Amino acid sequence: MNEIRIGIIGFGTVGAGVVEGIQKNGAWMAGRTGITPVVAKIADLDITTDRGITLPEGILTPDAQSLISDENIDLIVELIGGTTIARTFTLEALKRGKPVVTANKALLADHGEELYKTAREHGTGIYYEAAVGGGIPVLRAQREGLVGNRIENIYGILNGTCNYILTRMEREGLPFDEILADAQKLGYAETPPDLDIDGLDTAHKAVVLASMAYGAPVPMSAVSAKGIRGLSGEEISNADALGYRIKLLSIIKENAGKIELSVEPALVPKTHMISSVNDSFNAVFVKGDMVGDTMYYGRGAGRLPTGSAVIGDIMEAAADKLHNVGTPSSVTIMLQKDSLSYLPSGDIEKRCYIRLPQGDLKAAVEILEKHGIGVSSVEKSMSVILTHRAKESTFVAAMAELGDAVRLRLENFE
Ligand code: HSE
Repeated sequence: MNEIRIGIIGFGTVGAGVVEGIQKNGAWMAGRTGITPVVAKIADLDITTDRGITLPEGILTPDAQSLISDENIDLIVELIGGTTIARTFTLEALKRGKPVVTANKALLADHGEELYKTAREHGTGIYYEAAVGGGIPVLRAQREGLVGNRIENIYGILNGTCNYILTRMEREGLPFDEILADAQKLGYAETPPDLDIDGLDTAHKAVVLASMAYGAPVPMSAVSAKGIRGLSGEEISNADALGYRIKLLSIIKENAGKIELSVEPALVPKTHMISSVNDSFNAVFVKGDMVGDTMYYGRGAGRLPTGSAVIGDIMEAAADKLHNVGTPSSVTIMLQKDSLSYLPSGDIEKRCYIRLPQGDLKAAVEILEKHGIGVSSVEKSMSVILTHRAKESTFVAAMAELGDAVRLRLENFE
């Protein structure tokens, strides 16, 4: 029986989930794969907080560096988050030829190119399934199952915290901050949660998905990102009355060689499956030119779901090491091209929902039409206008004349 000796850096929500999963199912995994996962060391600055897990003596240490240099540790799991010290540790491990498993989407979005190249130069791998979609193996599905496809579009609900907040605002009418506090208690939210609610966590994940779909590291500057901060219950109840739900949607499309990337709250029809993705669940809809539409669904955040994805990567990395794979496809697929071409955010076409808290609907329609934005319906009782498709830059120009108005994307998946 082969062993993989694991060093985990970061013993927070996900780190504890990984250890719990290996303690519970390690023997089962060994039976399935012929490789026994062994948690050799865990490093965290806080080695006193009770994580509800019993560990053998001497496993916990505050010294992360000692794990990286330990010849008896085969693989590093980076779960500290952030992009500074996590980058240093990851680079050091890769330079020693040690595979790294990470759930750190911010690290990949900001430093992915450097990390993939370092892994390639040192004949090892970086594995990051847990960085996108929590427990859903969507990257593996895209990388392996859909490898024969050109990806036409990807629609995703990629942030468990925001989806949990939106679901409970709609169902229970509770205030945003109260639900956010619950999401923090449940271990869904980032610390601080601004990355979640301002759409940046979703943008980090969209960047990784797009990099994999189109074969080059995508910079964060290519994503136009908005979050759900300040979203009012009025928009949620209006959307409901109009036959929609509001979701924080990431949209990735390829058209004539240009890639469109956006993250924003959007009204989605209740008749579309994506509107039924609730609570901390995530879903990713990937359309390939051969396969057509596919959908991946599961828990997008939390201790055990994310731990499950990390363990999947540990076992893949272990098998790659055993079979001397060298640089795995999780690295090579991100480095096929040097760069990509992106659609400027002002050129993104969309439909919109516009609410005028006060003001003259008739005058507003005239302003929109003057800018060439077609109006599809006017909902007087809500003071809402639904538009046809127009460019984002056109909406921005029209909104400057409309004054105090709320605007959200309306996505019909046409
Ligand atoms: N804060 C993230 C979320 C964790 O809520 O989706 C999982 O990436």
